[in-house]
Amino acid sequence: MTDDPPARLESLEDAADGRRFSPSAGRNREAIVAALVDLLPARGTCLEVAAGTGEHAVLAAERLPTWTWQPTDRDREALASIRAWVANANRPNLRPPVALELGQPWPYANESLDAVFASNVMHIAPIAATASLFREAAAHLKPGGVLLVYGPVFLPGEPRPAGNVAFDAELRAKDPSYGVRTLDELRELALDSRLTAPAVRRMPTNNVLLRFDRG
Ligand SMILES: C[S@@+](CC[C@H](N)C(=O)[O-])C[C@H]1O[C@@H](n2cnc3c(N)ncnc32)[C@H](O)[C@@H]1O
Repeated sequence: MTDDPPARLESLEDAADGRRFSPSAGRNREAIVAALVDLLPARGTCLEVAAGTGEHAVLAAERLPTWTWQPTDRDREALASIRAWVANANRPNLRPPVALELGQPWPYANESLDAVFASNVMHIAPIAATASLFREAAAHLKPGGVLLVYGPVFLPGEPRPAGNVAFDAELRAKDPSYGVRTLDELRELALDSRLTAPAVRRMPTNNVLLRFDRG
């Protein structure tokens, strides 16, 4: 992996129609969606947790036309941006956003989803939110479904990239319950749910895409 500039907490830009733009999503969405295309089966329904501006959802729906994409987020401003992106994209397989907060039960039937995707949320929420993500994903995925999570994660037996160490310190200074997670703690959460240990896919700028299968 490259030692690119470190991740940082960022400000978003707004368009007149309500769409928000995230500089990091602008940089990483091609690589993330290419990996999703590679990893996901031919068709299905994916619930995206913490979809933020909605930029990943739009590109995923475009590149995965046989998938139905359901973006969600907790924040009102994020939901407004996603709604604007969905209206602008006008794609039949991209659903309007739904409010979903990690820590709360999900408004979907058990075993009704083929995939759950979450990008850049585990480090910016308490570990209890990630535990809830794993529990709820395990309950709502069909057998054989997949949980995919993207972001910075400290990998065992490897030097911690300086940029991610600095980002971790910045997050913990903002809120002590935030922080870059370790692969070991995520594996433990997965195994406590009905998910497999993670398969690690290395991504640009010292990020990873982790895949957990629902057995
Ligand atoms: C850093 S942004 C990432 C957005 C987008 N996934 C991306 O990668 O660009 C974090 C997002 O997580 C959402 N979020 C934070 N805590 C959450 C929680 N407990 N439940 C659901 N969403 C949450 C925020 O509203 C925000 O949209």
